[in-house]
Amino acid sequence: MCDLNRRSIAANSGHLTGNAWAQNEPYTQLECWYATGRLPLPAAAPIILHMSAQPRKIILGVTGGIAAYKSPDLVRRLIEHGADVQVVMSRGAQQFVTPLTFQAVSGKPVRTDLWDEAAEAAMGHIELARWADEIVIAPATAEFMARLAYGFADDLLSTLCLASSAPITIAPAMNRQMWANAATQANVKLLRERGIRLLGPESGEQACGEVGVGRMVEPARIAEEIFTPRGGAGVLSGLKVVVTAGPTRERIDPVRFISNRSSGKMGFAVAQAAREAGAEVILISGPVQICTPLGIERIEVESAEQMLNAAQKQVADADIFVAAAAVSDYRCCEISSEKIKKTSDTMALSLSRAPDVLATIGRSESPPFLVGFAAETENVERNALTKLNGKNLDMIAANKVGDGLGFDKDDNALTVYWRDGKKELSLTSKIALARQLVELIAERYRLRKQEPKALRKSAVNVG
Ligand code: CTP
Repeated sequence: MCDLNRRSIAANSGHLTGNAWAQNEPYTQLECWYATGRLPLPAAAPIILHMSAQPRKIILGVTGGIAAYKSPDLVRRLIEHGADVQVVMSRGAQQFVTPLTFQAVSGKPVRTDLWDEAAEAAMGHIELARWADEIVIAPATAEFMARLAYGFADDLLSTLCLASSAPITIAPAMNRQMWANAATQANVKLLRERGIRLLGPESGEQACGEVGVGRMVEPARIAEEIFTPRGGAGVLSGLKVVVTAGPTRERIDPVRFISNRSSGKMGFAVAQAAREAGAEVILISGPVQICTPLGIERIEVESAEQMLNAAQKQVADADIFVAAAAVSDYRCCEISSEKIKKTSDTMALSLSRAPDVLATIGRSESPPFLVGFAAETENVERNALTKLNGKNLDMIAANKVGDGLGFDKDDNALTVYWRDGKKELSLTSKIALARQLVELIAERYRLRKQEPKALRKSAVNVG
């Protein structure tokens, strides 16, 4: 049994020292029993205490959605990370989970009411707002987000959000249509502009039986993100990076489409590496089966046209655009509204060019720093340089594909070209490669910023 007060052996300010650090382990782990002194010790419920940063005082706000059933697990995980958690429930949340459940897992009476005299006498709501190092709201319903956006203070949780200077993180959860609704999206934008951090929602099967974006991020991932030091010291700190990833799909009829073998792994790795380097990252992804890396906003698209629309919207205030998607070059001239029947031995599809996302952004008036990818089966250098020039890029990362190389692999190698140089990044895991690429992007981005404008995009000799 260990005493949580002996956490002091954990390293200071989130940085580990000694053996754990030397072994490159993210956390020292101690198997521990509940020892907050507030709860009787359960017979067999060991928890793993991740000894990371100083204990953080967290208000966990729970609002009224079905995902509230996952929030007791989030409490547990925040405590595992060494947090002191005070749960505050909205009235709606109590329809899904009882305050007693949260009291049992947090070891503290749950706060539910702004007008509770006894609770207010113990710690008034303003005192509670000052106590918190961080406010986490999971799940955050569409309704609560709207009230937060408009500054309501008609219940305890909304009042705490207004009265606290602590950073606020919300994990939205709702039906996909509610998430996509223009009112919700306008609130999302407003909340983001005010520095509120959104984690998710994710895509998947929903409690209502529908499939789409609206699921709450899993508690383990929320806790991990809360305890991951936010960017600041990284090479892309303060910059907004937009990344495209995965394949696109061009519909033929309601059941068929044209696509390609891209897994999205490289683009997702670049997004993760950029986020680790301190950037705000927007990932625009075609249909892939990969979880969104922590702390990244993912926009899901299907066709080249949709990817272009999303990219144009996002690059307006971006510093760097990395196009790692394998975008369809062609689309059907006509999409059949009914399933096409096999009426003849051969059939011809009439195709026209799909928009070129990267080239379109390259032609815009003041494009961000542009990085392209070139997956080639032959003449890698020549084709890559042609694309560097033709699409008005700052850098291009090229590799050979086909014959077991490139697609759907965990490893890759790249040659990166820019106007007056190149660098080989040798075969390694895609995430290690992405981190090297991000270092290079940051270096070239800074150099470009110092160049006179006229020099920035002079053509290279393709030879
Ligand atoms: N790209 C894009 N939109 C397209 C096609 C490509 O944004 N419609 C981007 C890719 O994300 C990549 C770069 O352009 O960063 C090069 O893509 P690639 O498929 O290698 O080349 P294409 O320009 O499509 O030319 P080709 O298929 O003839 O090699």
